[in-house]
Amino acid sequence: MDKLRIIGGKPLIGKIRASGAKNSALPILAASLLTDQTLRICNVPHLRDITTTVELLGRMGADIEIDARLNVEINTKNIKDYVAPYELVRTMRASILVLGPLLARFGQADVSLPGGCAIGLRPVNLHIAALEALGATITIENGFLKARSKGRLKGNDFTFENITVTGTENLLMAATLAEGTTIIRNAACEPEVVDLANCLTAMGAKIEGAGTPVIEIQGVVSLYGATHRVIPDRIETATYLAAGVITSGKVTIRDTRPDFLTAILEKFTDMGAHITIEDDSITADMQGRRPKAVDITTGPYPEFPTDMQAQFAAINAIAQGRGIITENIFENRFMHVLEMQRMGAQMHIDKNTVTCFGQDKLSGAPVMATDLRASASLVLAALAAHGETIVHRIYHIDRGYECIEEKLQQLGADIHRV
Ligand code: EPU
Repeated sequence: MDKLRIIGGKPLIGKIRASGAKNSALPILAASLLTDQTLRICNVPHLRDITTTVELLGRMGADIEIDARLNVEINTKNIKDYVAPYELVRTMRASILVLGPLLARFGQADVSLPGGCAIGLRPVNLHIAALEALGATITIENGFLKARSKGRLKGNDFTFENITVTGTENLLMAATLAEGTTIIRNAACEPEVVDLANCLTAMGAKIEGAGTPVIEIQGVVSLYGATHRVIPDRIETATYLAAGVITSGKVTIRDTRPDFLTAILEKFTDMGAHITIEDDSITADMQGRRPKAVDITTGPYPEFPTDMQAQFAAINAIAQGRGIITENIFENRFMHVLEMQRMGAQMHIDKNTVTCFGQDKLSGAPVMATDLRASASLVLAALAAHGETIVHRIYHIDRGYECIEEKLQQLGADIHRV
């Protein structure tokens, strides 16, 4: 199994380009199930979760072409199978995103239940409630969600009990082909939801309010093909900026969207980074200084994202002072803390908070990645630590970071896959 070997202690300096957003590309790939015409998706990142989704669509009978620049063309005219099997859903929970589109276009979908997850329970009750509100019948049989609809789904006024990103996306996709109007209340406002809505609109959907808590969709009888370019990945962008901050370096990310990162950039500034924004690029410059610890509280967009919590824990581990991290989205997202403690971090977990007492230095150690963002945080900690760190189980990182070692090498990091 691949590992990453990192020798830390060097300030990272340089410029890299942001990849396309994983969490946009995944629902947009699923949206190809809503039409019998070809959907062309550009700026798709080269990631394991993308390959898994492409495999899932391929098994259902989709025709897929991918060119050298990772533009993906999908045609789902010949779909013959409406099943998302356990072996794929198990490795990628986002497979649940095929539920809404399959149900809306074909009136049936069998999606394996995702099961346990390293970052918490992550149930699917809200996806079920939302689709039932459009008239679907959903049962659980043999570990599968079996969703059926007699005729077209029916538009409805639905309020999510809690904000859910993929739940909002599933309902949004299903509603595009439903009869009449659907109103989604307490919708997720993440830029990835807006990107999906923009793609659906290009396919002929009638959507208003994406990016706000109330989205209104006028159902149409059919959608058509389109070309859509996926937005830049804000979490990837922020993770590489964090690599600059944690090593007291200076990192520029090009081809990104600074407006998606407001809450994160404020925290980098509080840490002492000098942030410069120019059109589509962001520079974080520590001017050689050690970062200052900050308090972080995660919440739905536009609040501070849970997907950056672990990376900020890594910075707090070596920062000046004490920082308190409060995780409000997932109940078990502190696995990285135990690994960082093995590198010398002083951190104490109490329910959903971690108090970090910044140390002058961390020391390299063998560590184990437990989920995608936890792995990223361990790589960051290793970049700042003295000596060698081996990060095991890096298949997690390949789910969400395209060419991570090449990009970090471009910034001057001593990192190799072994
Ligand atoms: N929840 C329920 N019931 C549901 C759905 C969600 O109780 O039916 C709860 C979850 O357990 C969680 C909260 O609602 O406590 C929010 O979860 P959400 O549904 O928003 O998460 P998600 O849609 O499964 C997406 C991202 C995650 C990201 C979260 C939160 C994708 C493919 N995944 O997950 O990304 O952490 O939103 O922003 O968009 C990652 O990229 O590393 C990642 C985990």
